[in-house]
Amino acid sequence: MRLDGKVALITGAGMGVGRATCLLFAAEGSKIVAADINQEAGEETVHLIKERGGEAEFARCDVADEQEVKQAVETGVKAFGKLDILYNNAGVLWRDKDVEVTRTDESTWDSVMAINLKGTVWVCKHGIPELIKQGGGAIVNIGSGTALMGFTTAQDAYTASKGALASLTRSMAVVYAKDGIRANIIHPGPVDTPMQKVWDEETRQAISEWVPLGRLATAEDIAYCGLFLASDESAYITGTEIIVDGGIMVKGR
Ligand SMILES: NC(=O)c1ccc[n+]([C@@H]2O[C@H](COP(=O)([O-])OP(=O)(O)OC[C@H]3O[C@@H](n4cnc5c(N)ncnc54)[C@H](O)[C@@H]3O)[C@@H](O)[C@H]2O)c1
Repeated sequence: MRLDGKVALITGAGMGVGRATCLLFAAEGSKIVAADINQEAGEETVHLIKERGGEAEFARCDVADEQEVKQAVETGVKAFGKLDILYNNAGVLWRDKDVEVTRTDESTWDSVMAINLKGTVWVCKHGIPELIKQGGGAIVNIGSGTALMGFTTAQDAYTASKGALASLTRSMAVVYAKDGIRANIIHPGPVDTPMQKVWDEETRQAISEWVPLGRLATAEDIAYCGLFLASDESAYITGTEIIVDGGIMVKGR
């Protein structure tokens, strides 16, 4: 019960890393505010938590919409009385139109930034005051390995949004430290989730061979890192980036 007594607001809770994090955190004693734009998927996550004896509340919200995020925070506080953990996981990767800058249109750029970057801003804007009210808490942001390296197949809006998220994390870590709030970011490598359903077996095999540990990450691999950063076990860690990529980043050519 590493999160006993905590309340966590988790965005993108309906599937992939978000759902795995919800289930793990609930199993470790946290109450969950499961926020997602996809009502059916988010409600299914809540159902799975309750089925296993946990407590959870669904909050439908598009993280790009400040008012909807504000309402999700209010839903969580109304249901469980407080918030301790803000887990900014919702993100989009639109491979068909998020490409290199010379072929990127403005609406794609703006939408990706609105979800991947501004979404976290709104959650923090409305969630941090709730963390402060009860003496502090933990912010865990989900970045990406793409924030740290270039790829020949570019997804520049996604990459830039994740890089900005890392900068924002460092700034919030310093500004809100006095309030007992820690902020850290996880940079996953390739994770086997619905986001990557475009990969056929041949691609999955090629990626697995590229990864030093020889496989794709599971959503749980990322959730366990999140658990550490959200729990009091990491009480002296703030402003840090943790790379969870099976060794890709340290691999030489
Ligand atoms: N899968 C990977 O290989 C990978 C690698 C690096 C980083 N990441 C990051 O991990 C996080 C989770 O990715 P995943 O693979 O689980 O994704 P996923 O696509 O499998 O799930 C994303 C969830 O976010 C929700 N969502 C999408 N837009 C939203 C919005 N505007 N408001 C609220 N909810 C929204 C979706 O409905 C879905 O439930 C993302 O931030 C992603 O960028 C993923």
